[in-house]
Amino acid sequence: MLEISSRSQLLQQIQTWQQQGQKLALVPTMGNLHAGHLALVETAQQHADIVIVSIFVNPTQFGADEDFGSYPRTLESDCRQLLSAGCDAVFIPDPEALYPFGSEDFTRVLPPDSLANTLCGRSRPGHFDGVVSVVARLFNLVQPQIAVFGEKDYQQLLIIKRMVADLGMPQQIVSSPTIRESSGLAMSSRNQYLDTATRQQAVKLQQVLQHTARQLDLGHRDMSELERQAALQLRDHGFQTDYFAIRHAADLSRVADHDELKSIRILAAAKLGQTRLIDNIAWSASD
Ligand code: PAF
Repeated sequence: MLEISSRSQLLQQIQTWQQQGQKLALVPTMGNLHAGHLALVETAQQHADIVIVSIFVNPTQFGADEDFGSYPRTLESDCRQLLSAGCDAVFIPDPEALYPFGSEDFTRVLPPDSLANTLCGRSRPGHFDGVVSVVARLFNLVQPQIAVFGEKDYQQLLIIKRMVADLGMPQQIVSSPTIRESSGLAMSSRNQYLDTATRQQAVKLQQVLQHTARQLDLGHRDMSELERQAALQLRDHGFQTDYFAIRHAADLSRVADHDELKSIRILAAAKLGQTRLIDNIAWSASD
């Protein structure tokens, strides 16, 4: 597996692969890899000849009071896992490779308000500006035909799909389902902040999402009431709820009474102590 950190080394290697007619897939990550990331690599392998994983803890997507400084950095173990997963290259850019003019005063890509300033974007202002700004840079440098993102970060996935469509970028965005622990807890790098007791509590997030899906199955259609009930359940399980939302899967718009309930996403973000967890599930009315 190639380990690449500079722009020039990357560009040279990309050129070689392009000349060989190889199809490239990129899996952007912030490292601290777990089975969820390895599933993204596997999806990428199904779609391309060469899989490149980028590892970069992107400063511009963290708020001032967030965990940029303490975000787990586990490069050695990450590279070991990628090697055994059969990944072709890992791109570990120096900050200058992505932000040659620094990460304070840089060219930003701004996602549309309707997608970025709701749900996670409301409590993390500027977060998605940082995400799309770094993903656009990675796409420009790596020039992959395919890029793979997890459904766990469902809002991020939609925003990146929109960026690509809006800016006419050539990348095909492939999504990969959320990987869960046997308890149902969605895999996340932030799970390692949880101790044994809070890990057991954390499982409830997924259970409340499933409970709400069952209420929809049973024909309950008062979305605000279902969201309110779910937020109360999370509070009873010890969470500080950021949001619990039932939205249209295509654009995260609110579900109105008369709307056709074809493809719905139920999404939640809630904190256990200082640890912010997110999760979501799909729901569709059966015909
Ligand atoms: O999902 C993540 O890990 C990050 O938001 C991403 C897409 C790698 C951008 O930094």
